[in-house]
Amino acid sequence: MKWILFLGALIGLGICRQQKFRGDQVFRVNVRNGDEISKLTQLMNSARFELSFWKSPSTFNRPVDVLVPSVNLQPVKSFLKTQGLEYSVTIDDLQDLLDIEDEEMRLNEGQERNDSNFNYGAYHSLEAIYQEMDSIAIDFPKLASRLKIGQTFEKRPMYVLKFSTGGGKRRPAIWLNAGMHSREWISQATAIWTARKIVSDYGKDPAITSILKKVDIFLLPVANPDGYVYTQTRNRLWRKTRSLNPGSHCIGTDPNRNWNASFAGKGTSNNPCSEVYHGPHAHSEVEVKSIVEFIKKHGNFKCFIDLHSYSQLLMYPYGYTVKKTLDAAELDKVARRAAKALASKSGTEYEVGPISTTVYPASGNSLDWAYDNGIKYSFTFELRDTGNYGFLLPADQIIPTAEETWLGMKTIMEHVRDNLY
Ligand SMILES: *[C@@H]1O[C@H](CO)[C@@H](O)[C@H](O)[C@H]1NC(C)=O
Ligand SMILES: *[C@@H]1O[C@H](CO)[C@@H](O)[C@H](O)[C@H]1NC(C)=O
Ligand SMILES: [Zn+2]
Repeated sequence: MKWILFLGALIGLGICRQQKFRGDQVFRVNVRNGDEISKLTQLMNSARFELSFWKSPSTFNRPVDVLVPSVNLQPVKSFLKTQGLEYSVTIDDLQDLLDIEDEEMRLNEGQERNDSNFNYGAYHSLEAIYQEMDSIAIDFPKLASRLKIGQTFEKRPMYVLKFSTGGGKRRPAIWLNAGMHSREWISQATAIWTARKIVSDYGKDPAITSILKKVDIFLLPVANPDGYVYTQTRNRLWRKTRSLNPGSHCIGTDPNRNWNASFAGKGTSNNPCSEVYHGPHAHSEVEVKSIVEFIKKHGNFKCFIDLHSYSQLLMYPYGYTVKKTLDAAELDKVARRAAKALASKSGTEYEVGPISTTVYPASGNSLDWAYDNGIKYSFTFELRDTGNYGFLLPADQIIPTAEETWLGMKTIMEHVRDNLY
């Protein structure tokens, strides 16, 4: 009896620890001109109303998505009204979506324990993803292996799946990355689906078979494991790493502002409390450093694909400058073909362009680092959706998202195969 009470208390405590978002809403604010962009930028940079910007004001007239805590709904509405800013409510009660997601995960975990089959149409714990990576390597020992490329700030392993048909250590290679921002769950889910897709289609689909004849693929499905665990235990909307910032009560660095590419430049913050905090120095985050060291040591990567969400964008360098890369025309052509292939599956439309002139400046991002370090074919996907669910994309969209994204990625990888340099 005592034990049951004790367990009950533990479980109760665990549930209480997850931050609740009861009554919180997401607003979509329309942006029609530069004046409105600067009003929203000011709002974002002030700590006013405890807002969290899901989609930051961009250099262009893109709508902005912002999470408004329930206690501040009225003040924010009045503020927007007095500023003449138009908005609509895209998510009416965030906690409702979180409760559904939680319940679905719980049910799925029970089912998986029962039939010991990984359900690709569900979201998973880090542990379950790592186990599935192991299963893939065990099921296809001649094609796939699981490597540890480092250890996170909180001492979790970072695992990569390597797909290779031989050809030596320095065969040209493709890096597939996901989950750098921990709350973008569709990216980790798409990545693990992709791993299974590669091994099951090899030898059947001529495209992936011929790609793997010439190049190796390295896939890192959870690039920010500490953040991912935190989204499942404490705060579903956590984006950054979980490293400590001496002298600040705020935790974490934005790993996608931490790369050595115009580090601490435009589109970043030196405030540890910011969602785009660049960190104390380039590669300060051990998760980023581990990837950098692995890629440098390998020395023959030709392609770098980074999966994020959300917005339905397919972008290429640069983020740190509006200047075009030397390869802009080719990258644009490939990206457009990839977006077309992606849309052919279920009509999902993507916008294509360089980061800086498609959304906003973003210095220190992975793509720019890859490109400036000789990896010409560098692309980032911002997966589904465009804001109806944002980071809380329902699990029934995982497989449709992964399937269409695969067509896009395959188009890029075929281009790499045919244009090795
Ligand atoms: C587990 O499997 C058994 C037998 O197949 C079934 O009756 C039961 O409903 C399953 N439980 C869950 C949670 O799926
Ligand atoms: C960043 O790159 C510059 C060259 O562009 C180099 O001098 C510097 O050592 C690099 N820093 C890190 C942390 O790798
Ligand atoms: Zn992201």
